[in-house]
Amino acid sequence: MPREIRITPSILNANFDDLAGEIQKVAAVSDLVHLDVMDNVFVPNFTFDFSAAKKVIESSALPVDAHLMVMNADVVGPEYAQAGCHSVTIHVEATDDLPSTLSAIRRYGSRSGLAVKPNTPITEYSDYSDLVDMFLIMTVEPGFGGQSFMDPMLEKIRQARKIIGDRPIWLQVDGGISVETIERATQAGADTFVAGSAVFRAQDPAAMITSLRILATKVTD
Ligand code: DX5
Ligand code: ZN
Repeated sequence: MPREIRITPSILNANFDDLAGEIQKVAAVSDLVHLDVMDNVFVPNFTFDFSAAKKVIESSALPVDAHLMVMNADVVGPEYAQAGCHSVTIHVEATDDLPSTLSAIRRYGSRSGLAVKPNTPITEYSDYSDLVDMFLIMTVEPGFGGQSFMDPMLEKIRQARKIIGDRPIWLQVDGGISVETIERATQAGADTFVAGSAVFRAQDPAAMITSLRILATKVTD
């Protein structure tokens, strides 16, 4: 069976004054909307505090895929699950108790995601596979949109695909995904694609998502 492809546009580079409207633009052609939460400590940038994020989650026309780039993921992760996110992804670098937090996220009804920064190996986390619904391989240093895809991460994507084996775990990539890079990320094994600037800086964001989906689907068919 071909791998199912999901496109999860990131609103990091969308118009923050009208996020509900921006999400509406891509709702018909996207699987989820990717919400980048940054605390200016784990990464040198800030996006939302919890109450602002909650408003986005509650007004979103799409289910929300929260990517938490924050310290203290053991506390914050379950809060975002309780707030109704479809999935909540925490960074292994920001947690003291990965298994409990992944379990808590699931217990509150969200899919659990495990993210690694470019310098963090994924192989060390294979033992957590039974607690994980999605691996997220960062293909840029987290913090900002518009950076270039890091080709050396392709090997890590291949390793993650091997770890997943037959399990129904999604494999997401985030950073520098565009019509130039999505095919090689798919070839390496990714099936779920965050795209921020490629989508929201395009003339027609929905058309760009469709183009990305077509390119990735061709690789897996
Ligand atoms: C970066 C964020 C990304 C960001 C990607 O730390 O996690 O989700 O929005 O932006 P692009 O697609 O422009 O690299
Ligand atoms: Zn992200």
